[in-house]
Amino acid sequence: MSYPHQISTREQYDIAYQASIENPEAFWDSIAQNFLWKKKWDQVLKWDFVEPKIEWFAGGRLNITENCLDRHLEGHANTPALIWESNDPDEHHRILTYKELHFKVCQFANVLKNNGVIKGDRVCIYMGMVPELAIAVLACARIGAIHSVIFGGFSAQSISDRLHDAQAAFVITCDGAFRGNKAIALKEVIDDALISCQFVKRCIVLTRTRQPVSMIKGRDVWWEDEIRKVETQGNPVCKAEEMDAEDPLFILYTSGSTGKPKGVVHSCAGYMVWANYTFINVFNYQPGEVFFCTADIGWITGHSYIVYGPLTAGGTSLMFEGIPTYPDAGRFWDLIDKFKVNIFYTAPTAIRSLMSFGIEPLEGKSLESLRVLGTVGEPINEEAWHWYHKNIGKSRCPIVDTWWQTETGGIMISNMAGITPGIPSVASLPMPGILPVIVDEKGEVITTTVASGNLCIKLPWPGIIRTTYGDHARCRTNYFEAYPNLYFTGDGALRDTNGNYRITGRVDDVLNVSGHRIGTAEVENAINRHAGVIESAVVGYSHEIKGQGIYAYVIYGETTHDLNLVRQDILQTVSRLIGAIAKPDTIQFVTGLPKTRSGKIMRRILRKIAENETQNLGDTSTLIDPSVVDEIVKGKSGIK
Ligand code: WTA
Repeated sequence: MSYPHQISTREQYDIAYQASIENPEAFWDSIAQNFLWKKKWDQVLKWDFVEPKIEWFAGGRLNITENCLDRHLEGHANTPALIWESNDPDEHHRILTYKELHFKVCQFANVLKNNGVIKGDRVCIYMGMVPELAIAVLACARIGAIHSVIFGGFSAQSISDRLHDAQAAFVITCDGAFRGNKAIALKEVIDDALISCQFVKRCIVLTRTRQPVSMIKGRDVWWEDEIRKVETQGNPVCKAEEMDAEDPLFILYTSGSTGKPKGVVHSCAGYMVWANYTFINVFNYQPGEVFFCTADIGWITGHSYIVYGPLTAGGTSLMFEGIPTYPDAGRFWDLIDKFKVNIFYTAPTAIRSLMSFGIEPLEGKSLESLRVLGTVGEPINEEAWHWYHKNIGKSRCPIVDTWWQTETGGIMISNMAGITPGIPSVASLPMPGILPVIVDEKGEVITTTVASGNLCIKLPWPGIIRTTYGDHARCRTNYFEAYPNLYFTGDGALRDTNGNYRITGRVDDVLNVSGHRIGTAEVENAINRHAGVIESAVVGYSHEIKGQGIYAYVIYGETTHDLNLVRQDILQTVSRLIGAIAKPDTIQFVTGLPKTRSGKIMRRILRKIAENETQNLGDTSTLIDPSVVDEIVKGKSGIK
């Protein structure tokens, strides 16, 4: 049985969905035929959610970069693969055709080899949004090295933790990165991180900002010098390493409910099939269209929908170095007009922030090239949805509300542009292959159509997380233990009479701040390391732009200190230990925290206080000292 690679009608969706659930093996066997394999698989799917052990296309051999690059050289060599726009509107944009990108990836793959990188090595990439970031990612994949991209906003300490966890002996970075009117000293951050990572053998540094950097003899080399060396060696090709379907492709660290980020591991074949299938189907991508995903490649969205999804589809991906508000709040709209963007994919937080500038930045912008809009990363509120629909989509572009996670590799629940209807604030229907279930507090699967509870997934899909790097047990406890034989997402959801899913947000101790996942325990750990802090509790609360803000309750020991200064010092500590993205929006000093007799902090109460819902705090009788609550409520009135 053969199923269309790209679904073009509602009926086809229904057929594909049904088939994918009834017989996943036959379905994915058909879809996987659309890729370039060095050897086809022996078995489509083997799985066990207890261990967990999941294998897709076992026995298959391939290299994802041949699917992203080589196979498009025939017929599409001169199609733009990547269009890059600088932070600076006056700097000329760059276009890399498939031929050029292939050449550059091979060239840099040879640089990696010259520097001793071999298959299976972990390579940490900490760069700004320059084309060389995508090139570095693909060059790793070319030679079978496992890339681990770290978002440019993370601190030296965070990088060091990740380098240790992944035992990454190679680092690729830039001297600095331009963001708005700032130049961020990336190499300096790496230098600080590497003090505690003596196992790092080589650091390759790309020139971007040309701010002064310290280059350590024997360890640090310039990207450009290394390229020159391979040029003189004269061999521009780099054979793609033949990878096993289940070999790891990359590690991407993400926050969970414990203090330590997890290294989510994705596989070569399953991830490729999933990123590609979701890309062409959710956005209904058509050949020749320009796709603009505004995420950073440091997050999963950038991996799947700037690099791997569009490139495996032979598409044109627009990559932007800067920020939406520089030099003014019309920058995205300028880019859409400049490059005739057809599909625009961004986060609700960006929409809300741009909404706050009114429609003046839209004056003189045509936006007529747009065909499809998308959102990702957090629930979109109706007001932002309507603004986006009316002002950006001119009421004619479907909006795909795509729900997924780092662990899922690609989009899981979403309407499909022009095929299944979009409903404001509703992620809507599962992709083929995805069988969502909703479980109640007792852990039982709710069988009625209308349901509300915790969102789990019943069947494996090709892009599912394979393990957490170096600690498989953690993968099991985090995702597969809460509900037997189900993958637990950590999100809550509602299902309506038509089977549409509305995601209600995290049900664990993970915050979603401006679409970025941050664990409350991570922030607490950082705050607690500040001298003078005795204890802290962090919760999320509604924030107009960021979706969620970070609210920290802090017990501080030394009463003679100026608390306004202490507050700033705590922010600085969090910035140093995690990164500016994890800085609390509000810090309230308290003398005690609401704890149960077993010593557990009752976050439910703290969340309500942070939300100003102090009238209805629920049962506080199990607390050791209920008066603490009154004191916190009183103290809150003094907080901005
Ligand atoms: C949230 C980002 C509602 C959700 C791709 C999930 C969403 C977490 C949506 C994963 C959406 C993502 N509607 N919530 N359309 N998309 N989320 O790993 O809570 O950075 O669990 O992956 O973001 O965040 P992550």
